[in-house]
Amino acid sequence: MKTFHLNGDAGAGGLVRAEVSKPEPANGEVRIRVEAASLNYRDLLILDRVGQGGLNGRVPLSDGAGVVDAIGSDVQQWRPGDRVAASFFRDWVSGPFKASYVASALGGNTMDGMLAEYVVLPATALVSVPAHLTSVEAATLPCAGVTAWHGLIARAGMGKGDTLLVQGTGGVALFGLQLAAALGARAIVISSSDEKLDRAKAMGASILINYRDTPDWDVALMQATDGKGASHILELGGPGTYDRSLRSVASGGKIVQIGVLTGFGPKPDLARLQWENADIIGVTVGSVEHFTTMNRVLTEHTIHPVVDRVYGFDEAPAAYAHLRTGSHFGKVVVEF
Ligand SMILES: NC(=O)c1ccc[n+]([C@@H]2O[C@H](COP(=O)([O-])OP(=O)(O)OC[C@H]3O[C@@H](n4cnc5c(N)ncnc54)[C@H](OP(=O)(O)O)[C@@H]3O)[C@@H](O)[C@H]2O)c1
Repeated sequence: MKTFHLNGDAGAGGLVRAEVSKPEPANGEVRIRVEAASLNYRDLLILDRVGQGGLNGRVPLSDGAGVVDAIGSDVQQWRPGDRVAASFFRDWVSGPFKASYVASALGGNTMDGMLAEYVVLPATALVSVPAHLTSVEAATLPCAGVTAWHGLIARAGMGKGDTLLVQGTGGVALFGLQLAAALGARAIVISSSDEKLDRAKAMGASILINYRDTPDWDVALMQATDGKGASHILELGGPGTYDRSLRSVASGGKIVQIGVLTGFGPKPDLARLQWENADIIGVTVGSVEHFTTMNRVLTEHTIHPVVDRVYGFDEAPAAYAHLRTGSHFGKVVVEF
């Protein structure tokens, strides 16, 4: 079967195409014929570390969807032909997060990912693909979709009448926007591009701010909300956005801390949190249970993920390069 491996050797560009034998499912495992895999900002961070060693030979990309191809002898819940997606953390099935789940993140330091024609995973690490979604669309859900769902809905309880701020128009941000539109929350989008803001408006965003033209976007946001601010914030930027997020949060609001788009280790001035009785909620993707619940809501509201561009399997390095430009709107996908 065909796959890509991370490879730090000079000249490989971090990725090499490989042919390896098809894996066989053991008891309790399922083999998936992967039809599509999607990229996340995390995959750029991983590729950037390949040269430091330790990742050579690992299959990248956490997110993929396809069809069950073979099952181990004691698998009850899946049959060949079922359409499935893999959950980001192989071992986080349900209940609260445990630090031990980190090592089970697909396509990272310790686990192979989905950029392979066939993948074997435990039966408990999979979810059914909603019937209205193609495999390309379903492949966008495991990291970006579940992160937005877990943070905004499962943890921060966003719903009708709330006001959500999303930063940029990448994968997590647009899932947040779509969930806000579906659940009756008002959405504020900040972006570097007026053209992308127009597209966000067409998706239901009502307050649109270009953060390049308006670096004090927190001031503009407060003016546009009559001084109330946003009840929910998808904090995706990190050090470059955190203080402005704190200045944008409404009384009793919730900042869902997710991203590192401007780097790691924000040192925010937290005084405002106290005066506004606001909360910060830290989020690391989510569980199989979160994914399954989200899929019910995607089905109920017929939500289709926003796919920016689809690449062929052998074009996977070009898909990474496209994501790195930041010109995308929504998700970048590799179709097998
Ligand atoms: N904690 C978790 O479990 C978790 C899960 C998923 C993602 N994340 C993190 O969340 C972030 C987003 O991930 P993603 O995969 O959705 O990324 P992505 O699709 O690559 O989104 C990138 C977009 O972010 C916007 N952006 C960049 N710098 C910005 C800034 N200073 N202010 C506002 N927007 C900015 C740009 O949108 P415009 O072109 O519109 O400006 C850019 O196109 C990343 O840091 C990622 O590591 C964390």
